[in-house]
Amino acid sequence: MSDTPVLPKELPTELPPELNAWIDHQFSQSLIEGQWEVRRLFHGRSGVIDQLHAVVIDWLPPVAVIRLYDDIEIALLDQLVALLASREVVQGVLVQERGRKRDTKFSIPYGEVSEVMQVIESGLIYQIEPLQFQNFGLFLDMRNGRSWLREQAQGAKVLNLFSYTCAFSVAAIAGGAKSVVNVDVSKRALTIGRKNHQLNNQDKAASQFMPYDMLKSWSRIKKPGPYDIVVIDPPSFQPGSFIAERDYCKVLRRLSQLTTANATVMLCHNDPEQTSQFVKSLMASQCSDFVFEQHLPVPEDFAEQEREKSVKVLIYKRVAP
Ligand SMILES: C[S@@+](CC[C@H](N)C(=O)[O-])C[C@H]1O[C@@H](n2cnc3c(N)ncnc32)[C@H](O)[C@@H]1O
Repeated sequence: MSDTPVLPKELPTELPPELNAWIDHQFSQSLIEGQWEVRRLFHGRSGVIDQLHAVVIDWLPPVAVIRLYDDIEIALLDQLVALLASREVVQGVLVQERGRKRDTKFSIPYGEVSEVMQVIESGLIYQIEPLQFQNFGLFLDMRNGRSWLREQAQGAKVLNLFSYTCAFSVAAIAGGAKSVVNVDVSKRALTIGRKNHQLNNQDKAASQFMPYDMLKSWSRIKKPGPYDIVVIDPPSFQPGSFIAERDYCKVLRRLSQLTTANATVMLCHNDPEQTSQFVKSLMASQCSDFVFEQHLPVPEDFAEQEREKSVKVLIYKRVAP
């Protein structure tokens, strides 16, 4: 976009004014129809500023969350906190230190942060828990996937595999889906999922929740089908539950039995070390009755210099044999 500020690659000892402008731009994008929506304010992993490659900043209105995947200089961190705290709309700054080989730690250097919050994305409400050690309840990089599903969902029977807190289900029902079956091994995630539907005043009868290991529950999942749309958004590596390299093909193998003749499937893969070719090869070997339609673009606040490092979202359509 032409009005998007350009960031310098190298930082001196102080944060550059361009970062200020960048953050302002992201804030302005998050004010939609008079409401502050969730957004990534800074995606350091894109490599846009070398010294901040391990920093991510999310805007969970009214809280800004700085996530550090590696150590950065205290002086830089202090400046980042001050930069965010200077915005009137920011009522709290949360710093989370995480990353492999590091204990996750939280601190609140400015204002207040509630344990349970409600945020808005595309006009829909989601419950989040920003002080959770791992994921806080909504994967912000999947915004375009949720919008796509909402647009496609009118009248559809949807199967949401690896549903987590059912954000896809909320989007599908908002788009007029006839029904959604959510499957996730985590009962806790599904409890938040139920809550997310309630927060949006959605018809209770439209959504179903299956707290099962899907790899062992195919007959139960198949029963309410066949489905017009299937969403598959697994973890890349969750030992004991799902390892993409080993298990993704086991899910794809079931697609023909689960779907209607013209079904659409959304396949997600979030391993930065693998390209979308991983999913395409599996589809070619397991599902010859599906054809590739399109890649969904990543949201602009998550853009990477290398496209394939971001989450991959592929749409396939079933065709007559
Ligand atoms: C990447 S998250 C899914 C994100 C979700 N689609 C969303 O829109 O927010 C992965 C989810 O897969 C679930 N999971 C992992 N292995 C599973 C299995 N074998 N059966 C069912 N759920 C599983 C985890 O509990 C976790 O909630």
